[in-house]
Amino acid sequence: MAEKKGLTRRQLLRSSAVTAGALAAAGPGANIAWSAPDTIRVGLIGCGKRGVAAARNCIGSAQGVQVVALADAFEDKVGSIKSEFKIADSHCFVGLDAYKEMMSRDDVDMVILATPPAFRPAQVTEAVEKGKHVFMEAPVAICPAGAKAVVEAATKASEKKLALVAGTQKRHDPAVVETLKRIGDGAIGDIMSAHFYWNQGGIPVEARKPTQSDVEWQLRNWPFFIWLSGDQIVYQLVHQIDLIEAALGAQPGMVHAMGGRQFRKGPQHGDVYDHFGMEFTYDNDVKAIGMCRQIEGTDELIGQRVVGTKGASDLCGTIEGENAWRYDGPKVDPYVQEFADMVKSIRDGNPLNEGIRAASSAMTAVLARESAYSRKRFKSSWYISKSDLSLLLGDELKLTDARPVLPAPNPTSYALAGMAPEAGKKRKKKGSK
Ligand SMILES: NC(=O)c1ccc[n+]([C@@H]2O[C@H](COP(=O)([O-])OP(=O)(O)OC[C@H]3O[C@@H](n4cnc5c(N)ncnc54)[C@H](O)[C@@H]3O)[C@@H](O)[C@H]2O)c1
Repeated sequence: MAEKKGLTRRQLLRSSAVTAGALAAAGPGANIAWSAPDTIRVGLIGCGKRGVAAARNCIGSAQGVQVVALADAFEDKVGSIKSEFKIADSHCFVGLDAYKEMMSRDDVDMVILATPPAFRPAQVTEAVEKGKHVFMEAPVAICPAGAKAVVEAATKASEKKLALVAGTQKRHDPAVVETLKRIGDGAIGDIMSAHFYWNQGGIPVEARKPTQSDVEWQLRNWPFFIWLSGDQIVYQLVHQIDLIEAALGAQPGMVHAMGGRQFRKGPQHGDVYDHFGMEFTYDNDVKAIGMCRQIEGTDELIGQRVVGTKGASDLCGTIEGENAWRYDGPKVDPYVQEFADMVKSIRDGNPLNEGIRAASSAMTAVLARESAYSRKRFKSSWYISKSDLSLLLGDELKLTDARPVLPAPNPTSYALAGMAPEAGKKRKKKGSK
């Protein structure tokens, strides 16, 4: 019998070794009741665009949810919203350590983490340590050490019966949930390939004020700096990577990516690239091809498509082919729904824990970025077992610090942290001479 092409559901789940191993480590115990107070008291950490929107989404998601504390690196950010949420000065915290002050309070039950991604692993670790339920924005990590820390925090959260929800809001959209279920039940047959995109125009950079230190200016422009954002693959394309991972049920076995900086020329645009392309390979040579771009004046395309032996899907409510279907159920705002699901899970005593799968898709994004920076094609398992890359930030970071802008990664000299030189060896594609 000819070998079947594409990935069956069973193969996909089996090949998700990293995720499955981590899930096993997380252990059981999600069903023990949590003694909820009537009101869930929420602290917002990172009072920027998403954080403020998330706080509004959170209080709009259920009765008896209240924002009671605010923390941000900068006074102006806290000051701009404290009257909206009616927060007393005693519950406003400012500075890079503000999150610790907030988390040490007994009158905060849950925190929303919406600072730049680099701070997430330390903040989620501290939050779980202090017994808080955590909503953490995506991405949850920007390096292997960060992903590992998040997996450890997720495991602890599970033991402590704390909720850990990950800001991958599409996974809470009923149109997406139903589409993924149908694909899992075979609606498009065996998956053969996938495509995913986050192509957009440029993003604004905030001009530097003479009074600002390097660190203050970079924090206020975090997407431009790898040490804070992890680059576009990690902080934006992670959403598409996460959906592809949900459909395929696996991390890719092999990663091959490229990228560059065509229109971002000077240090005012940090050290990030402005375009990337990548190929992920799964069992049976199933490929997922993705790209992302931030270049002024270019066309926007954000989305994904998965193609199977019986049809195709956008993963967001449409299936084409033999089992054509379109979602026509209630439309919800997934940014509100993720909080509604979280709050319900806490009150039901069955707290959601999305930490491990969020760490998995963040790690896949890191794999792609590292492949692009180094122009090396490698096995995920090889990279995950060998890399000692850590972009974790220690307590020594100060707002007043000097931090010169680094040059963008140069693929001819970029070294994969912790890797032996054979990482650069040419690999022949099967069948090539
Ligand atoms: N899920 C989604 O669809 C989605 C959408 C947008 C942004 N995000 C994520 O949300 C996060 C925030 O993005 P944003 O657009 O709101 O950025 P932003 O710059 O508007 O806000 C970040 C805030 O964090 C503060 N901050 C920086 N470092 C801090 C620290 N160490 N401690 C406390 N506060 C600190 C900043 O002063 C700022 O107010 C990012 O991780 C981003 O990737 C997710």
